[in-house]
Amino acid sequence: MPMAASLHTNFLQNPNRHLNNPTTQNNVFPVTSIRTIKNTPIRPVSIKCAAPTTTQIQDRFSGQAQSQDRVFNFAAGPATLPENVLLRAQSELYNWRGCGMSVMEMSHRGKEFLSIIQKAEADLRALLEIPPEYAVLFLQGGATTQFAALPLNLCNQDDPVDYVVTGSWGDKAFKEAQKYCKPNVIWSGKSEKYTKIPSFDGLEQNPQARYLHICANETIHGVEFKDYPTPKNPNGVLVADMSSNFCSKPVDVSKFGVIYAGAQKNVGPSGVTIVIIRKDLIGNAQDVTPLMLDYKIQAENNSLYNTPPCYCIYMCGLVFEDLLDQGGLKEVEKKNKKKAEILYNAIDASNGFYRCPVEKSVRSLMNVPFTLEKSELEADFIKEAAKEKMLQLKGHRSVGGMRASIYNAMPLAGVETLVAFMKDFQARHA
Ligand SMILES: Cc1ncc(COP(=O)(O)O)c(C=O)c1O
Repeated sequence: MPMAASLHTNFLQNPNRHLNNPTTQNNVFPVTSIRTIKNTPIRPVSIKCAAPTTTQIQDRFSGQAQSQDRVFNFAAGPATLPENVLLRAQSELYNWRGCGMSVMEMSHRGKEFLSIIQKAEADLRALLEIPPEYAVLFLQGGATTQFAALPLNLCNQDDPVDYVVTGSWGDKAFKEAQKYCKPNVIWSGKSEKYTKIPSFDGLEQNPQARYLHICANETIHGVEFKDYPTPKNPNGVLVADMSSNFCSKPVDVSKFGVIYAGAQKNVGPSGVTIVIIRKDLIGNAQDVTPLMLDYKIQAENNSLYNTPPCYCIYMCGLVFEDLLDQGGLKEVEKKNKKKAEILYNAIDASNGFYRCPVEKSVRSLMNVPFTLEKSELEADFIKEAAKEKMLQLKGHRSVGGMRASIYNAMPLAGVETLVAFMKDFQARHA
């Protein structure tokens, strides 16, 4: 017997009418009451979202085409995502490839989601040419959780490990490791305000260190390793936090024991952290290691020990596909180099009006910090840039100044527009 038209069917036929409730008609997310905390009313924040048009306009500074309803988002993370990926996700949001539900609604054990996570892994393996003796894990808790998971999995409480600290993130990783092993900072750039990477020859590594930890790209300070040190201990491994330059260029994975990265800069939304680990390093976790942080549990269960961040993994999969479509990481690196060159050149050619404190040879391709000679103009710079649809240019609160994060998904037009604006601003204020 055919079922009577359900509320669900009614909604599908007329999605703008929210059941038959007169207070909710024409308003899918009605605000029916104002909540209070300790008698202080909390007013709902009104957020206006532009209609999803893709009209192209010409930017008044660079003359480049720009989607009318999009800004250039220079945020350090969560960060801008490729427009085509967003539009694809939008088109698949409601009904993923005809299966009748959204990725957000799928069982993580169903064949549909398994195909999504397996493809995401296969595409990432292709992009980074990850050798078969490495496992790929999709985890939760951000890169910050890995600061603890690494020592818990790779060493015992009394084992020495070495940290090269080239910025705030490396410092945080070192401090967390102090709870679980005996880390030692063998080089710190703090006294020089984290503007350098050390020469590898001069590093006094402990020959017993179980691992040597680096942050491949310091997001706040804008210093990036262009090459990688080799651990002195033949049984030790190199471990890298690649959160802010993951998939921005080719990397020889075989040089590393572990690479880890939060997704929310270059490859997806926040909520998933990718760990690439040599398989023989798995299985030695300290007894106190929480189940969720034990790489063995995660690897044996193909990252599905518990409910994974399904939608985030799906989004990363779309980004990986897009990076492959662009020709892979060699092509992506070429684009990133070009964008960074244009921006650093503009800073260096400004006769000191703008200044980047980072040593030239280790400047990040991803995060470009800069200051104004007349620091009193910085607030105006940020405000005026925002009026021109260039957002999130304020430097991290710990260092001040400005920072332009120009990850993979930042179009060349975004950098050209910023540079044109910088020249115009200088002409008006020099
Ligand atoms: C290099 C680096 N490492 C670690 C983190 C912390 O990442 P999460 O917020 O995902 O824990 C960040 C965040 O910005 C970062 O830039």
